[in-house]
Amino acid sequence: MATSDLRAAAHDHLWLHFTRMHGYDPPVIVRGEHCYLWDDTGKKYLDALAGLFSVNIGYSYGEEIGQAALEQMRELPFYTNWSYAHPRAIELATKLAELAPEHINRAFFVSGGSEAVESAWKLARQYHSARGERRWKAISRQTAYHGTTMGALSINGIPALRTPFEPLVPGVEHVRNTNRYHRPPDETEEQFTQFLLDDLEETLEQEGPDTVAMVIFEPVQNAGGSFTPPAGYFQGVRAMCDRYGILLCADEVITGFGRTGDWFGSLKYDIKPDLITCAKGLSSSYAAIGAVLVADKVYDAFSTGTSMFAHGITFGGHPVGCAIALKNLEIMEREGIVPHVAEKQHVLQTQLESLLDLDIVGDVRGTGYLWALELVKNKETRETFSDEESETLLRGFLSGALFEKGLICRADDRGDPVVQISPPLVADEQEFGQIVGILGEVLTEAWQRIS
Ligand SMILES: Cc1ncc(COP(=O)(O)O)c(C=O)c1O
Repeated sequence: MATSDLRAAAHDHLWLHFTRMHGYDPPVIVRGEHCYLWDDTGKKYLDALAGLFSVNIGYSYGEEIGQAALEQMRELPFYTNWSYAHPRAIELATKLAELAPEHINRAFFVSGGSEAVESAWKLARQYHSARGERRWKAISRQTAYHGTTMGALSINGIPALRTPFEPLVPGVEHVRNTNRYHRPPDETEEQFTQFLLDDLEETLEQEGPDTVAMVIFEPVQNAGGSFTPPAGYFQGVRAMCDRYGILLCADEVITGFGRTGDWFGSLKYDIKPDLITCAKGLSSSYAAIGAVLVADKVYDAFSTGTSMFAHGITFGGHPVGCAIALKNLEIMEREGIVPHVAEKQHVLQTQLESLLDLDIVGDVRGTGYLWALELVKNKETRETFSDEESETLLRGFLSGALFEKGLICRADDRGDPVVQISPPLVADEQEFGQIVGILGEVLTEAWQRIS
């Protein structure tokens, strides 16, 4: 279709996700290379969001990954993981067992992140029944995003996403997340960790710990703005889960496959989870594939007698998706992408921290290539913007101005207002410089407008 026809057809027929459609003329992205995208008018953008925190190897490997997909299409375009295996699912499961923490050696494939979360919750419930216990609840954290299907949505801690669809799946409680920026300034890291663990323990006690199937946390919480865990936090969470017989699931849909500078956030923070949910970076989004990675202890409950996990999805373990994920992981290893993030994350951090000179930037936080700038009205008091100001600032100005200047990142107000930066993992100093340059200009203008 010609450019104008595409736009008209988009207007008439396409329904965009999480988009206010009225009067909206969406950009039409037609091409990608390295960290860059082009729209149908030829305008170039630096994609500082890696698609949706997901195109880890960047946009230049279509040829090589396409070849792997083509060969798989020729050999076996589809077969199922329902009672059958096929070579690519076996090879991918084996590769994931090699990359994941030592005690995790089994993969259950699905087609995306929400399905992975949904499946993990069901798996946790059935794990407990297999051991003769009835446990059904899930504990997640405030402001955390875990997907949109009913189970995953119920686990979400973002009221604006949950409310329109209530009643949700019952049995989810949300505990405090690791946002330290708005805690008392004289609180030590140790005290903060204890505060969070006390909150979790109180919630478990209130719910009745023997009704709780699973605690599900991201190693670094994305929604709210890249909340990293304080020292000792995940060790405390792990110990509490062990004490109460609860499974610990690390939702690594974003943090998996290099984003934090390690293959998994669970490795970086020594979390030792029982389950890992992953998707996005598993294929660098070149295919729709996700997985629940399962610890030996959990699998053992299903490995005897007539026991089975009563769950499946047609496209789970799709051979073409598996072939693409395998090729993606091969490219990541060959190109040294994870060590590259580990090496360059400090350069990105230093550059982003230079934006703390601006009046509007209250905090810069994150790790690896997963960062957020928190925007504030008053740096001294850390006062945030009202809902109305936030609406005018983020939707009314920032998102559009950044995009106008050719930078794709996310201005997000699902918690306090933040700008999220999460470039493809192949990004380097040139891209960091562009990101910081454009953010600097636009945030300076935003402050002038506000004040
Ligand atoms: C932590 C986390 N879990 C789950 C999901 C849901 O993944 P999907 O959009 O592939 O369903 C997301 C998506 O952003 C996520 O960030």
